[in-house]
Amino acid sequence: MSDTKLIEVKDLAKHFEVRAQGAREDKALLKAVDGVSLDICEGEILGIVGESGCGKSTLGKTVLRLQEKTSGQVLYRGEDLFAMGRVDMKEMTKNIQMIFQDPYSSLNPRKKVAQIIGQPLRIHNAGTPAEQITRIDHLMDEVGLNPKFKRRYPHQFSGGQRQRIGIARALALGPEFIVCDEAVSALDVSVQAQILNLLLDLQVRHGFTYMFISHDLAVVEFIATRILVMYLGRVVEIASKDELVNQHVHPYTKALFEAFPVTDPRARKGKKQIVMGDVPSPIHPPTGCHFHPRCPYAEPRCREQYPPLREISPGHSVACWVV
Ligand SMILES: Nc1ncnc2c1ncn2[C@@H]1O[C@H](COP(=O)(O)OP(=O)(O)OP(=O)(O)O)[C@@H](O)[C@H]1O
Ligand SMILES: [Mg+2]
Repeated sequence: MSDTKLIEVKDLAKHFEVRAQGAREDKALLKAVDGVSLDICEGEILGIVGESGCGKSTLGKTVLRLQEKTSGQVLYRGEDLFAMGRVDMKEMTKNIQMIFQDPYSSLNPRKKVAQIIGQPLRIHNAGTPAEQITRIDHLMDEVGLNPKFKRRYPHQFSGGQRQRIGIARALALGPEFIVCDEAVSALDVSVQAQILNLLLDLQVRHGFTYMFISHDLAVVEFIATRILVMYLGRVVEIASKDELVNQHVHPYTKALFEAFPVTDPRARKGKKQIVMGDVPSPIHPPTGCHFHPRCPYAEPRCREQYPPLREISPGHSVACWVV
């Protein structure tokens, strides 16, 4: 891993206008991502965790400019993605790619595997038709699929194999940065391990940089080099994997680890159980620190002011008034 910053996200926000439930005419603002700043260095695997609805996918899609931002900046090798015109952005999609959750719905059922994997090559006129066929064979081989199955349709493959097809398609143009959004969440545990190992192998072979999104702490812990914890659109804690796993301090991170199933129930003995409750609506987030209504340590100021993200040790930052 190098110290070169590949991605810099500065105070990024993505708000959606939605109809407020029960309100007759009022439109409400849903702050799915609300002021997120982060850097990702070349070769790094940044894991993003948090409960459902906390804004992980929105962050991933906005970082790749698959949707427009509300405010803030995303720099790729120092270049502002949102300032790019259509032609430059099309060129940029060679470098940045996304692997989606659902290997069932993200592949067109009417297209053969070779057409699916070759689609980015055709869109970008990458090579002659003969070169494209060679490239498709190579990509299938690289993700552990037999190229002789390239004339099959997605439904003729298992879930794990379909995810391999999705990965091959993401690799087609030789990207540098890949956002994996719940890339193994739809798969059986044993198949999850195979796909995670494939992603790690590819990372070592090509020096990829990943943003790896998952609601599953075990998956993120397995693959990430650094972990960022999100809650209702904001970063609550970020640290290297080892520090976050062993020395997390934010009450929300603690709650996530408490809720994390352990194989040996004795390991839980003596640990304080935090009652989680439900995630509040991001349309009307709690005042102050968004986590305060669920936090066993909340103090009066937690209800009033949002705590800034501050560094508590090198590379370890937390947004909490209490710790
Ligand atoms: N296009 C959209 N229009 C309106 N609201 C949206 C849109 N996309 C996402 N949201 C809302 O933004 C919030 C964050 O959604 P997001 O999908 O980013 O969460 P997530 O952390 O990825 O959740 P999950 O773990 O379930 O995938 C949710 O409240 C969601 O309903
Ligand atoms: Mg999601």
